[in-house]
Amino acid sequence: MPVATQKFYLTTPIYYVNARPHIGHAYTTIVADVIARRHRLLGHETFFLTGTDEHGQKIERSANAAGIPPTEFADEVSASFRALWDRMGITYDDFLRTTEPRHKAGVQRLFKLLQDRGYIYLSTYTGQYCVSDEAYVDGPGGVRCPDCGRVTETVSESNYYFKLSAFQQPLIDQIESSDTSAQISIQPESRRNEVLSFLRSGLKDLSISRTSFKWGIPVPGDEAHVVYVWLDALANYMTAIGYGSDDPADVAKFERFWPADLHLVGKEIIRFHCVYWPAFLMAAGLPLPKAVTAHGWLLFEESKMSKSRGNIVRAETILDGFGEQVYARQFPESTKVERDLFASDVLRYFLLREIPFGQDGGFSFGALIQRYNSDLANGYGNLVSRTLKLIEQSCSGEIPERHASVHTGDETGLRLLFPVDDGMSPYDFRVDAISTTSIFADCVARSEFSIALGEVWSYIAKLDGFVTRYAPWKLTSSLVADDAVRLNAILYTAAESIRIITALLYPVLPEATAKVWSQLGLGDIGEAAREGRLRDLSWGGLEPGTKLGPLAPIFPRADKGLAQTMNDMEQSNAPTASRLSNELTSAAPDTASDPTHPAAPPRTSAIGEAHPITQVAGSGALTTERELSPSHTEARASGLFATRASAQPMPIAPVSTEVAPGAAASAQITIDEFAKVELRVARVLVAERIPKADKLLRLEVDLGYERRQILSGIAEWYTPEELVGRKIVVITNLAPRKMRGLESHGMLLAASSGENGRPALATFAETDAIEVGARLK
Ligand code: MSP
Repeated sequence: MPVATQKFYLTTPIYYVNARPHIGHAYTTIVADVIARRHRLLGHETFFLTGTDEHGQKIERSANAAGIPPTEFADEVSASFRALWDRMGITYDDFLRTTEPRHKAGVQRLFKLLQDRGYIYLSTYTGQYCVSDEAYVDGPGGVRCPDCGRVTETVSESNYYFKLSAFQQPLIDQIESSDTSAQISIQPESRRNEVLSFLRSGLKDLSISRTSFKWGIPVPGDEAHVVYVWLDALANYMTAIGYGSDDPADVAKFERFWPADLHLVGKEIIRFHCVYWPAFLMAAGLPLPKAVTAHGWLLFEESKMSKSRGNIVRAETILDGFGEQVYARQFPESTKVERDLFASDVLRYFLLREIPFGQDGGFSFGALIQRYNSDLANGYGNLVSRTLKLIEQSCSGEIPERHASVHTGDETGLRLLFPVDDGMSPYDFRVDAISTTSIFADCVARSEFSIALGEVWSYIAKLDGFVTRYAPWKLTSSLVADDAVRLNAILYTAAESIRIITALLYPVLPEATAKVWSQLGLGDIGEAAREGRLRDLSWGGLEPGTKLGPLAPIFPRADKGLAQTMNDMEQSNAPTASRLSNELTSAAPDTASDPTHPAAPPRTSAIGEAHPITQVAGSGALTTERELSPSHTEARASGLFATRASAQPMPIAPVSTEVAPGAAASAQITIDEFAKVELRVARVLVAERIPKADKLLRLEVDLGYERRQILSGIAEWYTPEELVGRKIVVITNLAPRKMRGLESHGMLLAASSGENGRPALATFAETDAIEVGARLK
């Protein structure tokens, strides 16, 4: 094993545990894994850290809403992140949880150090706070968070402050320093500019403790305060490698690895990493990270994939879809681990190839399958399979002789064998392999993964054209003496090119390249990486006479229908009500509200059937009766959200829910049955139209303990402006449903009247002394 002279310490953001992972999180982790594998094969002593961010108001509220203690809540979600990374073969070296004692010790030490160095003082904060981003926001009460657009909350607390304002100029100097070894490199350039303009607009001191809730790390010496969650979270990059411990092994580890060489982050958290974090470190007298690189967002159906929007794709859907429908069909005897790792490669390749790094990129199952078939099955996979089969058939399964002149660079002998001088001789592939290797390395070093892969695929296409042009299969039985030499030159060129491409692709496609490597007769690719054999890729490394390993398809073709299958899987994986904020279990069909479901109770014209809203509104049991339609005796209660899996909005008035005088007697429910329906007062924070859906509005409502997205078919009757700020009634315990790729987490209560079923939302007046979140019963 080569002696590691250089270290490389790389981190992902630590993920919030308010919801289980989706492919947006997987994107960051995959990119980090690719970078870590690349550095390891370059011989660097690499440390790759990931983990979960478990404290703060947002997690506390999610746990409260789920009715379980935050520790238990965090345990479950954190485990779901770790389990996914393990399933995907992510090679993290440590997984830090901010609830671990080692982290708490380090955070408290850092806080104390900042205090001792005079950068912390006690004052009162009155201002706005965005719970979703855990960020302080400038502006008047009710102002929206500039990052996520949500309405902020007013906070008035006695807090510890950090003297951030003292670091404005030092930070600018650091970022602009001409001494590149002292500089924090911020990539891409646009993000660096964003940070600089934020800094130039002035820095105010930052509140770094909270007193209005308990779920956090206590401030040392003043336990009424918990440490601000971003200070807590950012410190993970140091506590994971020993900061806060006096154990000599931890001290040595910290000295070896700090500062981080790269913090990889999503673009929305660049400010925390390029302003707050370096300022804390400067104040503590600690070295600053060398680089922060931000990637863009993964979009699904044109908006950022996120739990609150409900437009989420899970990595598990792709692992199951490709693992079961593609790999297991070809290899029924394969293990689950093999299937998962095969599918994980598919996702890795797609994300890195499809999205120009740094930009936002759309995800679709169709594009995933298209890329897989064209680039992996037909491109790389087909090239490997036809080349190795030919070697098996015509060279007794051994790597043939290389043509001396390719090796020495003397073209003359080759020109006689390959007279067409158009850049397609074996000699040209040697030259191309050298330039592809160097372009690939440069691009990966600049995080330009898509360009790097594009370069390799141009080489693959050219090599494929070469094999097709010289048709080696026609030479196998030729009696012409030169043809045997030509055949060997072609097959050696193809096999050696495949070796080089495979070595380059190893960090991106670890599982597939391992198979190709062993089919080439080269043994274990992981061992080759550790021994530095994937690093020096000079032409001719493949020894003639090497015996090929057993051959098998690498990338079986995927059916186009798989896109629909995965779409369906994703829909049915949509989370249903569970204790973890509707997040952790897979969906049970919402039989009561989906009339198309075979298990749905029959809908009749009687009002007392399974539709709970009918019963509630029709019974006049609500205190909001005066807010209903004036002719409320004729009113019909409306479930104003689409419940069908087909994503078609449900008619505003559900079938036959008309309240006829006396009808209530026809089917009564018990008080216990009614109690199952959770109705709460909510305030509309956001209301907006959904592109290409005339009837639907997307609402975000505040339930006091959490914020929810609800889709409602009221766009024909209400403008978004009319709704924002209203106090309405929401049915909160309906299973979530997806429409237009968005999830709806509840239903609004309204009466509908007239032939068109015009809805009137049940609304509380501002003068009603009723809290948001209050239950109606
Ligand atoms: N807990 C903070 C980070 C603290 S780091 C000291 C946080 N967590 S997060 O779970 O909300 O997001 C973490 C990261 O997940 C983002 O920065 C980004 O890297 C990734 N992504 C989450 N959603 C994403 C997309 N839709 N698209 C791409 N990446 C996304 O912020």
